[in-house]
Amino acid sequence: MENSNNNNDINNYNKIFKTELTQGEFNKLGQFIMSEYGIKMPPEKKIMLQSRLQKRLKALAIDNFKDYLDYLFSPHGMSEEVIHMMDVVSTNKTDFFRESTHFDFMLSEALPRLTKDLSVKNVKIWSAGCSSGEEPYTLAITLSEFKEANNQIDFSIFASDISTLVLKTAINAIYNEERIKEIPLVLKKKYFLRSKNHEEKKVRIIAHLRNKVEFARINLLELTPVREAKYHIVFCRNVLIYFDRATQLKILTSLCSNIVKGGYLFLGHSESITGLDLPVAPVVPTVFIKN
Ligand SMILES: C[S@@+](CC[C@H](N)C(=O)[O-])C[C@H]1O[C@@H](n2cnc3c(N)ncnc32)[C@H](O)[C@@H]1O
Repeated sequence: MENSNNNNDINNYNKIFKTELTQGEFNKLGQFIMSEYGIKMPPEKKIMLQSRLQKRLKALAIDNFKDYLDYLFSPHGMSEEVIHMMDVVSTNKTDFFRESTHFDFMLSEALPRLTKDLSVKNVKIWSAGCSSGEEPYTLAITLSEFKEANNQIDFSIFASDISTLVLKTAINAIYNEERIKEIPLVLKKKYFLRSKNHEEKKVRIIAHLRNKVEFARINLLELTPVREAKYHIVFCRNVLIYFDRATQLKILTSLCSNIVKGGYLFLGHSESITGLDLPVAPVVPTVFIKN
């Protein structure tokens, strides 16, 4: 008897939370995500979107996508649920020292040039699309190492993302030990604290470095060009790949307006600006200097 009840529960669960997204619902959502956040939703992403959104239906105890869309597009949904929806829709893959040649280039070329030739005393960096914080904290480690050898300088890092979920992780700065296994021991000892309970296998970025990074939720699609640039370096890596060309141009135009003359723009290794009219010149692949 108990078993058959369990089976019924499982069947009901499956019926409720494995509900399907119709083609019409997918199109409506896809258009909305594309127009508001710039993220492409081609037909092959339907199953991915459906399965990620099922988590939201479950959390809200809603048993079909029609009701979910009605809620999402209601005034309350547009202020609250849209944030949670983007948390599950965005792809947040990242790593410490991802595409490590960028950090080598910073130490050997960009930072010496900025601080010596251009006499920058306080290096300001923006990590746009920072995910769970590995990128801005890698920047903080790199700058901290540079500062140790050139103690006249200081730095600050601004990091932004659309997803509140990843930003929460970034602000807490607590990671599984596994995530830092490739980082040289000397840097691990300097910049990470191990959890007192060693069985937990967690590490936390030291407070001094955490205090150098400020996080904010920013939708890159809502950026507009600024009059006065204040950043010496902007990282926008592995974010643009999700956007179409026109959106990439719009975002990059605004990001470039934030970079001081002679400052740097870093893109992901599979991203290119060929054919886009932007005020930058290439220095090495995926790294550009603002004209
Ligand atoms: C693949 S991760 C890249 C993280 C990091 N830059 C790196 O290269 O390791 C892309 C990030 O871009 C964010 N993103 C996507 N669309 C965005 C938008 N419209 N505005 C701001 N951030 C966005 C995602 O939430 C995600 O965390």
